[in-house]
Amino acid sequence: MTIADSRVQAPFGAREVAVTTTEQIGPYRVFGCRDELGPRPRAGQFYMLSSSDHWGAGSDERPYLPRAISVLAADDDDLLFVIEVVGPGTERLAQLVEGDGLQMLGPLGNGFSAPDEGARAILCGGGIGFVPLAMMQQELLTAGREVTALVGFRDGAHAAGARLIAGAQVATDDGSVGNEGLVTELLLAELDRDSNAVIYCCGPPRMLDAVRAIGVASGAATQLALEAPMACGYGACYGCVVKAADGSYRRSCVDGPVISADELAPDWLAVGGAK
Ligand SMILES: Cc1cc2nc3c(=O)[nH]c(=O)nc-3n(C[C@H](O)[C@H](O)[C@H](O)COP(=O)(O)OP(=O)(O)OC[C@H]3O[C@@H](n4cnc5c(N)ncnc54)[C@H](O)[C@@H]3O)c2cc1C
Ligand code: FES
Repeated sequence: MTIADSRVQAPFGAREVAVTTTEQIGPYRVFGCRDELGPRPRAGQFYMLSSSDHWGAGSDERPYLPRAISVLAADDDDLLFVIEVVGPGTERLAQLVEGDGLQMLGPLGNGFSAPDEGARAILCGGGIGFVPLAMMQQELLTAGREVTALVGFRDGAHAAGARLIAGAQVATDDGSVGNEGLVTELLLAELDRDSNAVIYCCGPPRMLDAVRAIGVASGAATQLALEAPMACGYGACYGCVVKAADGSYRRSCVDGPVISADELAPDWLAVGGAK
């Protein structure tokens, strides 16, 4: 299967669902909803989310665009999302409680595709980037595939997110949990042991670029889930473009967010909306 095949189509337009569950895990807010109208998403796909109330509609509120959020888990019609508060949109989403209305558009974009038969998957995540990898891990384990999970966090508080991804090796910048250092050091050690592994990565831009470079240099097939800022999420605004290796541009919302490492230009971070 190619990455371009790993998409399920969203129903037209945004729909409203109700928040059904909430949980706080360290600094992360996890919430669930029941989406009876949408198809089951693939790992790596995302939704554009906003709250039904208090989303910039008041006279003292700034108008917000919906925010791109990955799926943590999908079970029948139940979806789980994880929020790390970094600004006004994620702050409002983290305030949602059971019964609140959630506007959603999705699932959007290309998800991850499975490794070739017999190849091991190495999941390599940074910060909130662990979310789509946790869903990919569940899909692969259910299919009986071999998976290794590596996740990096800035500190021990954020490392609480590792509870959401089974059996992960953890690295923290300050060494308070797991290995002290970068998650890419764990990745290089795993590749030394198994050069046929397929790498799946999601995280902050500089980490994605480091993993892109490792994937290209080692020849390991590498799928990167980009988190370029997105305004529309469905290909209309070109606000999320990244530079491709052939000099053209890709919209990360419709040509990604999952893209092969060798499809990106080496200077993709310096050009376009990747930052
Ligand atoms: C495909 C995709 C999946 C995502 N999944 C999740 C998720 O599961 N959970 C989650 O909490 N967030 C996720 N994000 C990130 C989230 O959409 C953005 O951080 C969003 O802009 C936050 O909105 P805000 O109003 O809270 O903060 P903003 O005001 O938009 O931004 C606050 C700060 O974060 C910076 N910033 C904003 N967006 C990004 C970005 N994409 N990358 C790096 N820095 C950024 C801004 O420059 C600013 O400094 C995802 C993004 C994408 C594109
Ligand atoms: S976010 Fe509008 S084109 Fe990608």
